[in-house]
Amino acid sequence: MDYFLTEEQIALRDLVRKIADEKVRPIAAQLDREGTFSWELVKIFADAGFYGVIIPEEYGGMGQGVMELTIMSEELAKACAGVTLCVAASALGIFPVIISANDEQKSRYLPDYAEGKYIAAFCLTEPEAGSDAGSISTRAVRDGDEYVLNGTKIFITNGGVAKVYTVIAMTDPSKGSRGASAFIVQDDFPGFKLGKEEDKMGIRASTTREIVFDDCRVPVKNLIGREGEGFKVAMRTLDKSRPGVAAQALGIAQGALDLAIDYARQRVQFGQPIASLQGIQFMLADMATQVEAARTLVYAAARFIDSDAKNVGKISAMCKLYASDVAMKVTTDAVQIFGGYGYMRDYPIEKLMRDAKITQIYEGTNQIQRMVIARSLIREAAAKRAG
Ligand code: CAA
Repeated sequence: MDYFLTEEQIALRDLVRKIADEKVRPIAAQLDREGTFSWELVKIFADAGFYGVIIPEEYGGMGQGVMELTIMSEELAKACAGVTLCVAASALGIFPVIISANDEQKSRYLPDYAEGKYIAAFCLTEPEAGSDAGSISTRAVRDGDEYVLNGTKIFITNGGVAKVYTVIAMTDPSKGSRGASAFIVQDDFPGFKLGKEEDKMGIRASTTREIVFDDCRVPVKNLIGREGEGFKVAMRTLDKSRPGVAAQALGIAQGALDLAIDYARQRVQFGQPIASLQGIQFMLADMATQVEAARTLVYAAARFIDSDAKNVGKISAMCKLYASDVAMKVTTDAVQIFGGYGYMRDYPIEKLMRDAKITQIYEGTNQIQRMVIARSLIREAAAKRAG
């Protein structure tokens, strides 16, 4: 089924699938075991043009959108969800520049990104500000032509491997989230430091790191938008990037389903392949139906966002919520189909269950997604009543 993809999208999907099958899948278990970030894969992805896909044409990219990011994330995640993040979480890091930066900033940062000369990361979360992103305390104080940043960001995907970080910091703490501003920070700016590297349950082929700003000096020309717009820049960014997480979850779920079907066809118990047992068939049927429903929602959300529609937060949150819950359910059921073998590291399935878990947590927990959806429903109902 081609899901009404355009010819270009099918070509992109087939290219990413080929590279994922040939280059990522064979080393996925090793990268997971050793917790290694692969620069070799970044080079392969850069040469294949993956980083340019979402960059506007006038800055050297292909001018594609969230749908194409979705296609790449899904295909890569079928092979390894951790590896996916050197493309998908990098997109999260560069989205604030694409969405909200001025022409001069775009000209400085986007052409090199499109060529895959560097990858990016997004710095919002802090030790005391996770779900409550508006309560960040990293400070940015203007000093002449520079801002001086102080504070610590945690759980930063691509931390330590990214060269460019989009950072949300408070320029006026008295205004709450209206006092936050967004900055483009390079890893070679004075006072930029790497903190603790996390040892994670899953997505172990990606880096997750603390980033410390210790009197970090950032040129004023690297402020994105105006002072006070940082929280909105962050929220608009997440609206665009959450379908990428949803697609990552979708890829994990599809990957687990494929493995479960193959295993059920081969595994013989009671004198027959377990695939011929109705109990297993019903599980596979439910898993496949959930995966298809997730794909339909994720693609619909991506297309809606790319149509430049307003108020895309609700559908973005819905697809992330649904696809990540499906990924958790489907990978858990896949492990069940593998039985005792599924629990062992010798088989590839337990990795998918570990990788799936984070998709319910990062880029906003699924509780936060429900909050975003519910608030939007209530706002829409109030507007209808008023109008
Ligand atoms: N687009 C534009 N503006 C938005 C917006 C959106 N989607 N959502 C909110 N805003 C605006 C509001 O209109 C409001 O503006 P005004 O002040 O002008 O009225 C302002 O932002 C504050 O909005 P709220 O009152 O709704 O803010 P809140 O404090 O109640 O929080 C929240 C909202 C949705 C819970 C938000 O804090 C949130 O999304 N939290 C989760 C954070 C998150 O996703 N973190 C993940 C970090 S990225 C990651 O995981 C890293 C990684 O490496 C993978």
